[in-house]
Amino acid sequence: MKLIDGKIIADAIKTEIAIEVRKMIDDGKNPPHLAALLVGDDPASQTYVANKEKSCKEVGFTSSVYRLPARTSEKEVLETVDFLNNDPEVDGFIVQLPLPEHISVNKVIERIDPSKDVDGFHPINLGRMLAGVPSFLPATPYGIMQLIERSKIDTVGKNCVILGRSNIVGTPMSVLMSRNNAHANSTVTLCHSKTANIKEICAKADILIVAIGKQQYVTSDMVKEGAVVIDVGMHRVPSTQTKSGFRLVGDVDFANVSPKCSYITPVPGGVGLMTIVALLDNTLKAAKKEFSF
Ligand code: GUN
Repeated sequence: MKLIDGKIIADAIKTEIAIEVRKMIDDGKNPPHLAALLVGDDPASQTYVANKEKSCKEVGFTSSVYRLPARTSEKEVLETVDFLNNDPEVDGFIVQLPLPEHISVNKVIERIDPSKDVDGFHPINLGRMLAGVPSFLPATPYGIMQLIERSKIDTVGKNCVILGRSNIVGTPMSVLMSRNNAHANSTVTLCHSKTANIKEICAKADILIVAIGKQQYVTSDMVKEGAVVIDVGMHRVPSTQTKSGFRLVGDVDFANVSPKCSYITPVPGGVGLMTIVALLDNTLKAAKKEFSF
């Protein structure tokens, strides 16, 4: 069993990005600027945004965070999106999800200027992804594709099973893994809450990508000997072994599944580290105006 080390791969990509930033500065340009809009005080979102700021600093980006209280009206959130769309100093921004329930996620996402949509959630970017036109790819799926590519995992003609059909992970992942290129070309099965025989389907997977949001859902009987397992889950569980009083576990029962795998991502230290790096990479592309809109 080989561990896919998200830290090593994320650090390698960060180094590549930092070199590009240095070149931009040497050429008299501004470093890329990534902004985040955070509405409310969801603790996981606070952590994600804090990690984003730290990572921006590491690669030499400018970063800023706009914080609004949970009671902010939808209109005010949309106006803040307009402000960020029109700020020439901001190359790309994200609206941290989840949003409070009284705010329409779709309305907010559709308001983002697609050329600054470094999360790749706007329908224009999702549509371009479907059409195979270069665009901002959603950060977690883009990060997973980097893990697969840089670990030299053979995907061509393989049976890839994806658990979970979210707009953020499962659905875009199914598109990327079935594309006609050297690091995809898999036969994809997308499983969800209404899928019958989910265990049997998983047990036939050469590559199993798990984004189902259920703690340690995938057990060893669901995994074929020699499979590649990518775990997108992240759950806090109480622990007496750590200072914080909790530890992180994924959607996969790592202790029992990992001995059967050819490759597996750990939690923490796997996919989670790649999401932010993918976001940085998208922001660099936004600053360099790599895609025309
Ligand atoms: N919440 C959980 N994952 C994500 C993500 O990739 N982007 C944003 N904006 N919010 C999230």
